[in-house]
Amino acid sequence: MILVLLGPPGAGKGTQANLLETDRSLVKLSTGDMLRAAVAAGTELGRKAGDIMERGALVQDDIVIGLIAERLDRGGEGEGFILDGFPRTIAQAEALDRLLAERGETLNAVVEMQVDDDALVKRIIGRFTCANCGEGYHDDFKTPKVPGVCDRCGSKEFVRRRDDNEEVVRSRLEAYHAQTKPLINYYAKQGKLKSVDGMAEIGEVRRAIGRALDGSA
Ligand code: AP5
Ligand code: MG
Repeated sequence: MILVLLGPPGAGKGTQANLLETDRSLVKLSTGDMLRAAVAAGTELGRKAGDIMERGALVQDDIVIGLIAERLDRGGEGEGFILDGFPRTIAQAEALDRLLAERGETLNAVVEMQVDDDALVKRIIGRFTCANCGEGYHDDFKTPKVPGVCDRCGSKEFVRRRDDNEEVVRSRLEAYHAQTKPLINYYAKQGKLKSVDGMAEIGEVRRAIGRALDGSA
């Protein structure tokens, strides 16, 4: 199964992709995570992408398409992939259709997560992540069960993203509305779009996605 999670910054794509890995034995492919890893490693690609990400703009299509193509070539260990944060432009969506067709595969579903812009800013400003395993948290909506200790791996180190401040979030939202939103229509025309209310609490969104994928919503 190949799924796309589509939604603005802070919609909960990463949170739900992590849950889907468990629920459906899928492997998450996040272009945001791949790019941040390249920035942290100081590779040439990371140097090209870092400034763009800090401004909240989109990295060039050929770079992210290359990352996904390379990763699809390596194959998956599970039942398929969840694409988190890719595609984000029509050119990326067309490239994905081509990449999958070359491999005799097809996209099964695109889940659009709908969240109001004001809620997104609040979610992003309060976000932090385990520095060791990447588990995501929020100051108000998802705190570790034991304060200061990661639920998943027990680490006590947490990080906040450099692009998680109000000014950059506004630019990321602008990029979403201008460049990514047209994908909703693109996938609706293909009959693949499933929209869920991303304003509900995390467990409810998880169940709504499950129902949408099983065709019972
Ligand atoms: P990327 O890493 O993809 O960031 P994004 O799209 O801006 O989305 P986020 O990761 O901020 O949000 P999310 O939807 O994953 O939400 P999360 O689950 O963390 O991209 C970063 C940058 O990389 C881009 O700006 C661009 O420069 C570049 N890039 C990446 N891919 C690219 C591409 N394909 N093309 C070009 N450039 C690309 O949740 C957010 C917070 O809310 C968390 O704290 C979470 O705990 C909390 N939360 C989640 N769900 C709920 C809920 N239901 N209720 C309450 N709180 C919730
Ligand atoms: Mg994310």
